[in-house]
Amino acid sequence: MFAKVNQVIEEIGAADPKSMEELELFRIKYLGSKNTIKPLFGEIRNVPNEQKKEYGQLVNQAKITAENKFAELKETLESAADEASAQTLDLTMPGEPVALGSRHPIATTLNRIVTIFQRMGFAVVEGPEIEDDWHNFTAMNTPEDHPARDMQDTFYLKNNTELLLRTHTSPVQARVMETQKPPIRIIAPGRVYRNETISARSHAQFHQVEGLYVDEGVSFADMKQTLMYFAQEMFGTPKIRLRPSYFPFTEPSAEMDVWIGMDNEKNYRLSKGTGWLEILGCGMVDPNVLTNCGIDPEKYSGFAFGMGIERQAMRLYDIHDIRLFFENDVRFLKQFSSVI
Ligand code: PHE
Repeated sequence: MFAKVNQVIEEIGAADPKSMEELELFRIKYLGSKNTIKPLFGEIRNVPNEQKKEYGQLVNQAKITAENKFAELKETLESAADEASAQTLDLTMPGEPVALGSRHPIATTLNRIVTIFQRMGFAVVEGPEIEDDWHNFTAMNTPEDHPARDMQDTFYLKNNTELLLRTHTSPVQARVMETQKPPIRIIAPGRVYRNETISARSHAQFHQVEGLYVDEGVSFADMKQTLMYFAQEMFGTPKIRLRPSYFPFTEPSAEMDVWIGMDNEKNYRLSKGTGWLEILGCGMVDPNVLTNCGIDPEKYSGFAFGMGIERQAMRLYDIHDIRLFFENDVRFLKQFSSVI
């Protein structure tokens, strides 16, 4: 009996598998579920009592020898395999290129606008795109019968006349004034929606940046200076034009054009042959709006403006069709990969 066990131990010691496949055969033979050591444990029945202990220890040793040998062989074979693959690895091969994305031209334009106003001390705030009637219209002094409330222009939520997709970023003005005390100096960038026919020049979704400045003694001259500085930084020219206009939430109101000239076809087309590019609406915050939002119009005054981003991006990057911004065609987008 003892001789049989010793023979197995010897066999294990002598085993010399040369590959992972041979090692697997070794494992099955000595460590698998039907290994050759198992029945040796059973043989203990036939060993005289006084030798049972010794026999048991010997078989156990056979098992441990098999385990150790297996671990040792496995390590040797694995490191040999690593070395072999290192030799076939060509370290001079060029790497796989990593494709870089690019910023969307709307995002780059928006970042430029935001940076300019941040330098003047404006803080950036955001409001919800699903807005309620109060903030989008009523608080902004837009009477019930104002054409802007027409179902033609506004996307209302289904079966709901209270909630809508905001038609401009102006409701953020109301949200800020309701919760903050002057001095207030904020800009609010974001997406807006209007129920309009989609064409090369207009879209049902676009982006605006709202601006609001409220404090004691804020004047129209302050607004003009702020916007002139913006034009200078954004378009490289302080040449602006304020045309009298009307908005329910400002009084007096104006629209601002920037002089882009007509010296090339692009500027001629964008300015519709006038040399002026209309970029924003602005005005002194109507006292009714201040009152609606809990700010005393006798003590405070302010100016506000709202500008479209798409038209400025079209001008900056020579893009002729507003729809391109929303199609997410990579052939279009990757042209801006060098723009930061
Ligand atoms: N909300 C106006 C629009 O969408 C723009 C505007 C904002 C005008 C603030 C005046 C003051 O056209």
